[in-house]
Amino acid sequence: MKTKIIAHRGASRYAPENTMPAFQLANEMKANGIETDVQLTKDNIPVLIHDENVRRTTNGTGFVQDYTLQELEQLDAGAWFSETYANTPIVTLKKLLEWISPQSLQLNLEFKNNIIDYKHLENIVYEMVKEYGLLERTVFSSFNDRSIKRMQRIDPNAQTAFLTSNKMRGLTSFVQSIGASGVHVKYRVLTPQLVEECQAKNIDLRVYTVNRPAHMVRCYKLGCTAIFTDVPDIARKQRESIPADGRVKRKLPFRRM
Ligand code: G3P
Ligand code: MG
Repeated sequence: MKTKIIAHRGASRYAPENTMPAFQLANEMKANGIETDVQLTKDNIPVLIHDENVRRTTNGTGFVQDYTLQELEQLDAGAWFSETYANTPIVTLKKLLEWISPQSLQLNLEFKNNIIDYKHLENIVYEMVKEYGLLERTVFSSFNDRSIKRMQRIDPNAQTAFLTSNKMRGLTSFVQSIGASGVHVKYRVLTPQLVEECQAKNIDLRVYTVNRPAHMVRCYKLGCTAIFTDVPDIARKQRESIPADGRVKRKLPFRRM
């Protein structure tokens, strides 16, 4: 199976992360899927934003959880990236689901609940994904293992993944013990042994955030399930350069006749 290419926060090198332009670009660049981060507003509406505080990616200040959706929608989530994207709003999960429904993209919803453990986040998000009939192509992930366990109780068949940036002894056993079907690791955690263990235990292994061509090629050759990248166009080009036998095409040296 070919390693899938998942656009990290959308095609976030080229458009403001977690906004519709970034998701649309990822689709145009033929990514296989989209990864995005989910938090809850004061009125319990799931919205797509990476940080708990709106300061870095909007013209506002303060915590997402202290804004109602109506207040949050007044913020500009594009101008910080470039003037071209001024007045781009924060996206609700509902809007993303409506848009992604007719596309063939896979979806990874990352619960951003390792710092603020939003009450009922899993239930609210799960019910919405279910309502749109998107459970089969959605993976729910979190750095918070309690959240994965809660998802497991909500629906033991839901696809879930534990996120980690640490080299952990016994990682795959831990993943199995919390009932996750996958593990999402930072690139530096990736080893051929981890790939082998995941394959033996039928655990999906996805790697973030892979932006360097040489790292992409390593993930492809090792047979990772997917990579998360800010540059899905480059990831596709690199994937196409790998023939079926796994050898990377090299340019022939120029020879004078
Ligand atoms: O889900 C993969 C990756 O997005 C996890 O890290 O900080 O970019 O959300 P972060
Ligand atoms: Mg994320």
